[in-house]
Amino acid sequence: MVVCNSRSLSSSILLVFLFCFFSFSHGVPHLHALRSPSLSSGELIEEAKYVAEITKGTLRTLLQEVPPGNENSSLVLAAERTYRKDPLNDFKRYTGGWNIDDRHYWASVSFTAAPLFLIAAVWFLGFGLCLMLICLCHFCCTRQSYGYSRIAYALSLVFLILFTIAAIVGCVVLYTGQGKFHNTTTKTLDYVVNQADSTVKKLNEVSGYLGSAKQTGVNKVFLPSNVQTDIDNIEAKIDSSASNLSNQTSKNSQRIRDLLDSVRMALIVIAAVMLLLTFLGFLFSLFGLKFLVYLLVIIGWILVAGTFILCGIFLLLHNVTADTCVAMNQYVQHPAAHTALDKIIPCVDNATAQETLMRTKEVSSQLVEVINTVISNVSNINFAPNFVPMYFNQSGPLVPKLCNPFRPDLTNRVCSAGEVDYDNATQVWKTYVCQVSASGICTTTGRLTPSMYDQIGVAFNLSYGLYNYGPFLVSLQDCTFVRQTFTDIYRDHCPDLRHYSRYIYIGLVMVSAAVMLSLVFWVIYGRERRHRVYTKNYDRSHEENKATT
Ligand SMILES: *[C@@H]1O[C@H](CO)[C@@H](O)[C@H](O)[C@H]1NC(C)=O
Ligand SMILES: *[C@@H]1O[C@H](CO)[C@@H](O)[C@H](O)[C@H]1NC(C)=O
Ligand SMILES: *[C@@H]1O[C@H](CO)[C@@H](O)[C@H](O)[C@H]1NC(C)=O
Ligand SMILES: *[C@@H]1O[C@H](CO)[C@@H](O)[C@H](O)[C@H]1NC(C)=O
Ligand SMILES: *[C@@H]1O[C@H](CO)[C@@H](O)[C@H](O)[C@H]1NC(C)=O
Ligand SMILES: *[C@@H]1O[C@H](CO)[C@@H](O)[C@H](O)[C@H]1NC(C)=O
Ligand SMILES: *[C@@H]1O[C@H](CO)[C@@H](O)[C@H](O)[C@H]1NC(C)=O
Ligand SMILES: *[C@@H]1O[C@H](CO)[C@@H](O)[C@H](O)[C@H]1NC(C)=O
Repeated sequence: MVVCNSRSLSSSILLVFLFCFFSFSHGVPHLHALRSPSLSSGELIEEAKYVAEITKGTLRTLLQEVPPGNENSSLVLAAERTYRKDPLNDFKRYTGGWNIDDRHYWASVSFTAAPLFLIAAVWFLGFGLCLMLICLCHFCCTRQSYGYSRIAYALSLVFLILFTIAAIVGCVVLYTGQGKFHNTTTKTLDYVVNQADSTVKKLNEVSGYLGSAKQTGVNKVFLPSNVQTDIDNIEAKIDSSASNLSNQTSKNSQRIRDLLDSVRMALIVIAAVMLLLTFLGFLFSLFGLKFLVYLLVIIGWILVAGTFILCGIFLLLHNVTADTCVAMNQYVQHPAAHTALDKIIPCVDNATAQETLMRTKEVSSQLVEVINTVISNVSNINFAPNFVPMYFNQSGPLVPKLCNPFRPDLTNRVCSAGEVDYDNATQVWKTYVCQVSASGICTTTGRLTPSMYDQIGVAFNLSYGLYNYGPFLVSLQDCTFVRQTFTDIYRDHCPDLRHYSRYIYIGLVMVSAAVMLSLVFWVIYGRERRHRVYTKNYDRSHEENKATT
């Protein structure tokens, strides 16, 4: 599911960044107009210009689409594993590697199961023909004298018992195999669903932080209305991605769960029916119930053909699973290569992603500076009442500045004393909010009006959103997230998936072969048994004749 949706997800994430930086590059200069002349030549504007400048460059890199599969550097996934004969191409070897879009891939992997399909066909036709001949003989041929051999009789009995036991063992293998297979597939599915859900949760959180820009009413110091529209768009994009991902996840996971349950049920039924068939067939032929034996033979004839086909399907599934596991591993191992997965999961290259990450840090850091400038140059200064836009009767203890998590060179910085950090800055600032008169002048002690507090909160949320979720958004953009998911699947789930799909396939082969041979020996043993009875009767009547003469 992650895979299905990552195309739209990635492109929307790309859009998010586009909008994000677009907003800042256009939005920040508005500070210029909104701040009073006393600050117009101050640092605030310089910073704003700087933010605009650095984001323009980012825009250009982000606009570049993910480069299409470059033939020169493309990596054939699971090349060794998938080097198989391709019946669609004159049985030449298939060299395209793992690629579920390629019908040659499917043809070549289906061909691995060909022997099993062939056995099913040969059995169905061959044994059908035998049954017809037996029928014909039964009705048309005259009874010939029977030759009876003790050895043939004993051998047929031994084989009958042997194949019955083999069939029972096969059923047990199949039954335990399906339990484990179901367990493994469910665990894998749960893991993938969990990854998707945590992505949706984080996207919703990001959306929550960006969404605070939506607040309307108070005059916008940091976010003029056109910027707000852009941020609303970003938020809508993220929400729609999250909603799509969530809807697809729940829909697909339910479908897959239903499918797995059906497979499980089908395998249990097959194991049970085969067990019953073997057991009854053995009993009936032992007691010489000819009609019932032939009835079971006909049922078994069709069932065995069916299980051989199922076997083929499981072998195919097993091979595709193993191919996919190898392909996922190679995809993770070669992050720079272009592969068949690029069509499904488009990723930006590492350099672009690192660039984006730097930009999120930079913008986040600049927003902190903007907030701090307002705090130190407006809130924490006692202006004369005639200094109108700056004066709002601010008084009381000074508002602490927000800790900038980055140094100017964007390396991590530890907070200095007296700074508040992202964790509780808004709570701390809340204690500095005063009550205001109708004209927006503080009537109680405090250095932030409620409207200022809200606007600082919006800038804070944007800064925090980029700081906290930037790496996550970048990991979606450059597929680090997908690679991590693949690594986990390859390490934790692939061995079991491979092992138990093989287990089921072997169980099915055992059951089909053993039941097939049992069927044959029900008929052979039945005949031998009748010959024996007939010969005994013949001998007895012969001796009686001798005795009377
Ligand atoms: C692929 O390699 C050939 C020569 O080896 C070169 O001419 C061509 O430009 C390359 N294509 C790309 C997309 O790099
Ligand atoms: C900041 O974001 C949080 C979490 O989404 C939200 O609860 C809060 O109201 C936002 N703050 C502002 C000032 O919008
Ligand atoms: C979400 O799904 C709808 C319909 O299923 C589609 O029209 C829309 O483009 C999708 N949005 C994203 C961001 O993928
Ligand atoms: C996801 O499902 C919810 C509820 O079923 C629906 O309201 C929403 O529109 C769906 N979203 C998309 C993008 O399909
Ligand atoms: C991307 O580059 C950074 C350093 O520039 C490096 O630490 C990281 O491992 C690279 N990631 C990938 C997936 O190549
Ligand atoms: C406050 O504004 C003055 C100009 O009015 C400027 O020189 C000073 O650097 C500013 N202080 C801060 C912390 O931005
Ligand atoms: C904020 O966090 C700091 C350290 O984490 C703590 O010392 C301070 O009391 C907290 N303030 C509030 C208002 O929670
Ligand atoms: C200014 O604030 C003080 C409290 O700090 C208050 O007593 C005073 O009335 C306020 N002045 C105006 C004009 O509201």
